[in-house]
Amino acid sequence: MLRTQVAIIGAGPSGLLLSQLLHLHGIDSILVERHSREYVAARIRAGVLEQGTVDLLLEANLGERMLKERLVHDGFSLAFSGRTERVDLKGLTQKAVSVYGQTEVTKDLIEARVAAGAKICFTASEVAIEGIDDHHPTVRFTQEGRTQEITCDFVAGCDGYHGICRQSVPKDAIRTFERLYPFGWLGILADVPPVAHELIYSNHARGFALCSMRSSTRSRYYVQCGLDEKLEAWTDSRFWDELRSRLPDEIADAVVTGPSIEKSIAPLRSFVVEPLKFGQLFLVGDAAHIVPPTGAKGLNLAAADVRVLYRAIVEYYRTGSTESLNLYSEKSLRRTWKAVRFSWWFTSISHKFSDDPFANRLQLAELDYLSGSTAALTSLAENYVGLPFE
Ligand code: FAD
Ligand code: PHB
Repeated sequence: MLRTQVAIIGAGPSGLLLSQLLHLHGIDSILVERHSREYVAARIRAGVLEQGTVDLLLEANLGERMLKERLVHDGFSLAFSGRTERVDLKGLTQKAVSVYGQTEVTKDLIEARVAAGAKICFTASEVAIEGIDDHHPTVRFTQEGRTQEITCDFVAGCDGYHGICRQSVPKDAIRTFERLYPFGWLGILADVPPVAHELIYSNHARGFALCSMRSSTRSRYYVQCGLDEKLEAWTDSRFWDELRSRLPDEIADAVVTGPSIEKSIAPLRSFVVEPLKFGQLFLVGDAAHIVPPTGAKGLNLAAADVRVLYRAIVEYYRTGSTESLNLYSEKSLRRTWKAVRFSWWFTSISHKFSDDPFANRLQLAELDYLSGSTAALTSLAENYVGLPFE
């Protein structure tokens, strides 16, 4: 029988970051993760960090490599109707974003946790939680054929959208809000220089495309695709042709192609559950909410949850007060719903939903209005760089 203060299910970015911040405040945790360390560290996902997320990583003593290797972006471009319009994030909000891959954030976090002697149980199966309404819940799992049990004060459900924590809550205690989009994103990673110094979000009659990057020599590109698309049907050359066809000519001509080193399809959804606290169990990050990647908000929202929760846990162990723990749901959900709204809106003006020409003209009018209005651009920019914390 193991004993800890906080059992954390899931060693993705939210679980690892929570564990690291608690550790720095003298609070003990054990991480239970379904996959291997190698698998977790290799997953290619988010790329854009808000300044608030960068600040939280610095607070967690993780900044050194990030500050050296990140690319600071003061703006991005919108491409539509054959033209591009720059969104001057810095000029509009005095803030910038950082391009630093989730893969790197996760690697830094695992290294820091392992160096500090953290207990991380990788390749755990049959993970189950019990007694979340008691003061000492338990987490049970199997590792290398042995059943293990952890007793703890709190359980943090950081196990992503497919995890078990949310599913452990009685159905009548939880409310779900969901919107599925009729498309996904096909993404590739390639060791070729990015087509531009900043990101380009493109609305095109053939569908949305995004030009992103991980470094000055590694590009990340996405094209909107059907939900029934098979990855095998997308050869590299088909992908490059499709990407170029969705970009204004001068950008398309500048795309440097090369062999992909990763290729994957992700469906798009908006998903939120309420509340986020059930007795001693707290849902964090993708376990509690999913947004379409268009607004680059998922990882940033996960970090924002961690920020609220870790401070509430620290306060509890310092003072015995549960006041901030009881406010976790409300505080996190207020920020979450604003990010859900923004990601939905940005998706709705940039993606192809149907062949309806009226809907398409409305999108183009909105993009044209946006690019000519400082008020509208400021609204877009302040959401993209991350809304201020309360
Ligand atoms: P996860 O990363 O899903 O981690 C959950 C962990 O729990 C995993 O390691 C998993 O193996 C583990 N787990 C699952 N089930 C169990 C179980 N039963 N027991 C134990 N462990 C379990 N966000 C941004 O902010 N900016 C972006 O630019 C961006 N781009 C994206 C692009 C794509 C294509 C995708 C798919 C997502 C993107 N996101 C982006 C979203 C971002 O990747 C997620 O929001 C982020 O990974 C959430 O972190 P998490 O730790 O909450 O969950
Ligand atoms: C990425 O680089 O993976 C990325 C960037 C911006 C987004 C989504 C994904 O909005």
